[in-house]
Amino acid sequence: MPKHVIPETTWPDRETAQSSLLFQPIAIGPIQSRTRTWVPAMVPWRSTENGEATPAVLDWYERFARGKPGVLVVEATGIRDIPSGPLLRIGNDGCIPGLRELVRRVREASDGQTRLLIQVIDFLRIRRRPDRRKFLERFLEITDRHRRGVSQQPGMEERDLSEESAVREALLQLSEESLRSVLTEREWESLEFGFRERVTDTEQPHIANLPQVLPGLFATASRRAREAGFDGVELHYAHAYTMASFLSRRNNRTDGYGGSPEARVRLPLEVFREVRRTVGSDYPVGCRFLGDEVISAGSTVEDAEYYGVEFAAAGMDFLSVSKGGKFEDARQPAVGEAAYPYTGVSGHECMPTVRIEGDPPFGRNLPLSRSIRQRVREAGFRTPVVGAGGIQSFELAEGALQRGDCDLVGAARQSLADPDWFLKMELGRGAEVRRCVFTNYCEALDQKHKEVTCQLWDREFRPGDAAVAVSQDGRRRLVAPPWTP
Ligand SMILES: Cc1cc2nc3c(=O)[nH]c(=O)nc-3n(C[C@H](O)[C@H](O)[C@H](O)COP(=O)(O)O)c2cc1C
Ligand code: SF4
Repeated sequence: MPKHVIPETTWPDRETAQSSLLFQPIAIGPIQSRTRTWVPAMVPWRSTENGEATPAVLDWYERFARGKPGVLVVEATGIRDIPSGPLLRIGNDGCIPGLRELVRRVREASDGQTRLLIQVIDFLRIRRRPDRRKFLERFLEITDRHRRGVSQQPGMEERDLSEESAVREALLQLSEESLRSVLTEREWESLEFGFRERVTDTEQPHIANLPQVLPGLFATASRRAREAGFDGVELHYAHAYTMASFLSRRNNRTDGYGGSPEARVRLPLEVFREVRRTVGSDYPVGCRFLGDEVISAGSTVEDAEYYGVEFAAAGMDFLSVSKGGKFEDARQPAVGEAAYPYTGVSGHECMPTVRIEGDPPFGRNLPLSRSIRQRVREAGFRTPVVGAGGIQSFELAEGALQRGDCDLVGAARQSLADPDWFLKMELGRGAEVRRCVFTNYCEALDQKHKEVTCQLWDREFRPGDAAVAVSQDGRRRLVAPPWTP
């Protein structure tokens, strides 16, 4: 049973909507957004295995653009030139023509009224949870610690463990409890959850030198974004990924890039400065970061307030605030699957549903953007702040702006459920909005890296309808049903 019900709401008439703050223009650095409506990044899992934009990717963004949001942010797009499944990439110049076409389609569908940003991301390696036998027979690197640990187990004292294969054989025979005592904490985690790299693995040269390589990678990706015609770049400093891990209170690197808040924010600032130097001061660059990590020993809103002021002072053009979405509290994946950072408490806070404990999910994360915005203003900066999390009505969106919770209203799932919802409100046709039910069918698809769709779209779809583009399983619409203003 849902704990929270979608509240009844009153939609504004056209005149009220058009005089509201929500539909007033706002500057985002050197550009203007026509309204204060914002569609945050959402990965639809529609690119090729090489990260190129497919016709389905273009259709996806075109459909959002028809609803003419002030700002539309393209999904987390990988900055490296490495295979990463059907996730969009901007890691080499070959990506530019496809992205240029995406920009063209959005401009055309929105009559040039939507500002288009692209979210650029770096992430570290994560492997699927292994089968126990395979892990012990093949993946685990055998060390003297294992030899010692095995020889201390009852009945194994006399074993000849000089050969690696003998150690592996012995490990396979151990009970769960004994095996846990023999493996390091990290090895146990790799067995139970799948191996996951961290920014603190500085004994690995490619992790130690992240501060040397990331500024250049982000800057080159941003240069490509500008060449492709995007209106700006959103640096992904949120959730479970590399840059958020540098910002995390859990980052205890000792090379000047971890430990104190000043050291944790150092690389995010260096990345930004290199991006700025590359794209110029007349090109909008901002970031998405966490108002709260919602994990034990993680960063809180106090850290986020400090980061927000630092980012504003460095010259970012906008700050988009998110919450949670971490690996640290992710649910254990099944064997053969990878951990998903939106499964634990922090994940639920990131994309709150009607089943969430405590306060309703609607506008639940706005206190974070409010505190950050207040601190940024007190420090003398006008940088616009984007809030998000369960926003699904005019009342909530306009109220957030009026109260100063944020300067732009982000709505991800409500815009997925109905990409025309902002436009419907603006035209005084709010009664026609298809309202999100906040049960995260879409997020479950994201978790499986399946084409993301909304369950509500299929109410207007009969499988076999030749006019409608369908998912690979043939059962779901790939884009929202059309609407004529
Ligand atoms: C299917 C799906 C994919 C998402 N992908 C991204 C992403 O690529 N980058 C990002 O910063 N957030 C991503 N999010 C999080 C949303 O941008 C947003 O922060 C979150 O859903 C809460 O806002 P909402 O309540 O308006 O949906 C995704 C959310 C969903 C549902
Ligand atoms: S699938 Fe559910 S949670 Fe996702 S957008 Fe649609 S109604 Fe909202």
